[in-house]
Amino acid sequence: MALLPILHYPDPRLHTRATPVGNVDDEIRRLVDDMAQTMRAAVGIGLAATQVNVHKRVIVLDVSEDQQHLQVFINPRLVSSEGSVEREEGCLSVPGIYDQVTRAESIVVEALDRDGKLFTLRAEGLLATCIQHEMDHLEGKVFVEYLSQLKQNRIKNKLRKRARETL
Ligand code: NI
Repeated sequence: MALLPILHYPDPRLHTRATPVGNVDDEIRRLVDDMAQTMRAAVGIGLAATQVNVHKRVIVLDVSEDQQHLQVFINPRLVSSEGSVEREEGCLSVPGIYDQVTRAESIVVEALDRDGKLFTLRAEGLLATCIQHEMDHLEGKVFVEYLSQLKQNRIKNKLRKRARETL
């Protein structure tokens, strides 16, 4: 397994729309494993392939307390959504920034697992928020785009400044 570099906002590559996975083969499984390792090393609870500059529709998540319950979503599709809830979000591609985003409260999602098997999942709470956040990445959308233009500009400036300082 390998740790993959994570793109940081406002990197324009984060706005790439990912393409569907045609076949869940060993290459995809290697990507899933590398993404899982990268997510854990970065102490995140979710990662989309977009964030590691691979523009395929693959997501890994682990919202469990013990961080031992990896969930893999390949070609995820939102079947239905209900309600709305506001929750504080963060993102490995927007380090150190947290803000409130309103999303559906409960969702039903359909996806392929690591073995290419189709499954349907009903999710609510943190898991539902996290799945929606990661599915946005596959569309080229970062959570800060839900915030006001003023906040987005502030975040961009802050992250650009930080990137310059760490060069
Ligand atoms: Ni994110």
